[in-house]
Amino acid sequence: MKQFLHVSDIGDLGKALEEAKQVKATPFAWQNLGKNKTIILIFFNNSLRTRLSSQKAALNLGMNPIVLNINGDSWKLETQLGVVMDGDKSEHLREAIPVIGSYCDIIGVRSFAGLKDKDFDYNETILNQFIEYSGRPVISLESGTVHPCQAFADLLTIEEHKKTKRPKVVMTWAPHPKALPQAVPNSFAEWMNAADVDFVITQPEGYELDPRFVGNAKVEYDQIKALEGADFVYAKNWSSVSHYGQVLNVDRSWTVGAKQMAVTNNAFFMHCLPVRRNMIVADEVIDSPQSLVIPEAANRVVSAQVVMKRMLESL
Ligand code: CP
Repeated sequence: MKQFLHVSDIGDLGKALEEAKQVKATPFAWQNLGKNKTIILIFFNNSLRTRLSSQKAALNLGMNPIVLNINGDSWKLETQLGVVMDGDKSEHLREAIPVIGSYCDIIGVRSFAGLKDKDFDYNETILNQFIEYSGRPVISLESGTVHPCQAFADLLTIEEHKKTKRPKVVMTWAPHPKALPQAVPNSFAEWMNAADVDFVITQPEGYELDPRFVGNAKVEYDQIKALEGADFVYAKNWSSVSHYGQVLNVDRSWTVGAKQMAVTNNAFFMHCLPVRRNMIVADEVIDSPQSLVIPEAANRVVSAQVVMKRMLESL
């Protein structure tokens, strides 16, 4: 595996899930695979889960992880091509990326959508430069449009908890005071469309996701109708795509609370975290026995480890 952005990069989903279960059961079985190998994890943005789960996954495989916080520990990096570098950015990605590549075997990159220039974000301008110039396999740790390690962990969590062969999974938009990227809902939609689930997206008007990610999902604007009979409720905020990066409303009637959960099939609640309580989800839901947010986060180690393992196997 040379890059990990999309569900297509993982190949057969059934095999990937079986491998994830093996990795989860025996996390240290591949300690020799990563011996004397280095992964550099580059963070342009904040993180708790991705930073720690990626390091843990690398350590489980016997690799040496190095974490670099761009703009914090390193020089400020210019990401746009063809600009006159007369501002506060001291180094260009064109030099920094091959230098980083020369120090490691695998690279992971977190580079959130800036939500100002849709083309820059949706062309994966930063991640694609890492793919082009590093000479190394590259993992998106949430980039302009996708968060595949999260979606893989989400799918594994659904697989572990489902009670029917083809569960109903509903992804619902929920309010948030700040503009958030679409990477998590994009990837979740992409992976659910590829999985054996009945997948529904519900959101207010104006929050439609890019059709490339919506795919064949059913879209329902009435949240309660969408949630009827759901086995899994996946809550997430995202900013508008059509009014790129804007917060169009913070309607708290969309907060996932007892009213929403009451129409489901005693659904499990999921969220990628971090989550704003009583904006996205009511305390009574996230604190209930049906909440999977902690096992879901724990599965981030497993998804990252499967991806790194496959990259090590193809070096
Ligand atoms: N879910 C997730 O990616 O969490 P962090 O932003 O804390 O890494």
